[in-house]
Amino acid sequence: MTIQWFPGHMTRARRQIEEKLKLIDVAIELLDARLPASSRNPMIGDILGQKPRLVLLNKSDLADPAATERWVEKLAADQVRVLPIDASTGTGVRDILPRAKELMAPKYEAWRKKGMEPRPIRTLIVGIPNVGKSTLINRLAGRAVAATGDRPGVTKGQQWIKFGKEMDLLDTPGILWPKFEDPQVGFRLAATGAIRDEILNSEDVAFFTAKFLCKRYPGVFQERYGIETLPEDLEDPNQVVELLEAIGRRRGAVMSGGKINLAKASDVFLHDLRSGKLGRITLELPGLV
Ligand code: G4P
Repeated sequence: MTIQWFPGHMTRARRQIEEKLKLIDVAIELLDARLPASSRNPMIGDILGQKPRLVLLNKSDLADPAATERWVEKLAADQVRVLPIDASTGTGVRDILPRAKELMAPKYEAWRKKGMEPRPIRTLIVGIPNVGKSTLINRLAGRAVAATGDRPGVTKGQQWIKFGKEMDLLDTPGILWPKFEDPQVGFRLAATGAIRDEILNSEDVAFFTAKFLCKRYPGVFQERYGIETLPEDLEDPNQVVELLEAIGRRRGAVMSGGKINLAKASDVFLHDLRSGKLGRITLELPGLV
């Protein structure tokens, strides 16, 4: 389901998260490892305030491991831990509890001084649509408790899901909105499928992505499609379109009369990217966004 984010909607979403924050010790912020900056809510610092934060770079199975390492370094801070995970297979998920416990150190100390027994760490997952919140909640719960797909504004009774004896998780995630101002952010989100193709034209998204891959991952065109010649001048739109046409020619996106169906070629290319068939690719690096 695609969410239309209007100012009233954003205010409501923010208020709902702020209500939930009062109940929790550690916020779990879910980002997409392929585009950690673009998949981050622009107001997240304001919204979470001083709450200890565990940043999870999800879908790291699809991201470039070297780039993920750089992002982990870049995003780590005082009271912020960063962990790459793959919620769909569970890779990295067992490190969530130890990292959350590290963030709890000051609270544990305060409890100890008051002579209180530690209770389970209370957590909430927040993130933009499609980043994998429901997949992670279901994995932590060990069963399907969260419906995939988003229904912001639908209120239901909050329930705690037990993750072992030491962590409790609110069953409804906090749904945040992505950044909208920068068109490049929109293209990156669309390239991963976080924004539906009906919103941004898939030919434009494929054009943007092909240009990026020519710069950062030029080998993928040869490996996946057997294309040897890449555009010499990436600022020449015709050359980038020719590259997409070459993909279409090799993947059967040919109309009667031999003309290439560019829309179909773009869909094939984006599908290959999203499903990891082009390899593990990160669409933005720290310092270059
Ligand atoms: P949301 O609640 O944040 O909106 O996201 P959700 O869990 O619904 O996940 C969105 C899509 O991302 C789902 O795919 C899900 O399977 C996929 N996904 C979640 N985590 C990971 C991960 O770590 N790696 C990979 N490769 N994919 C992940 P979908 O195509 O919408 O559904 P389906 O094909 O799984 O049925």
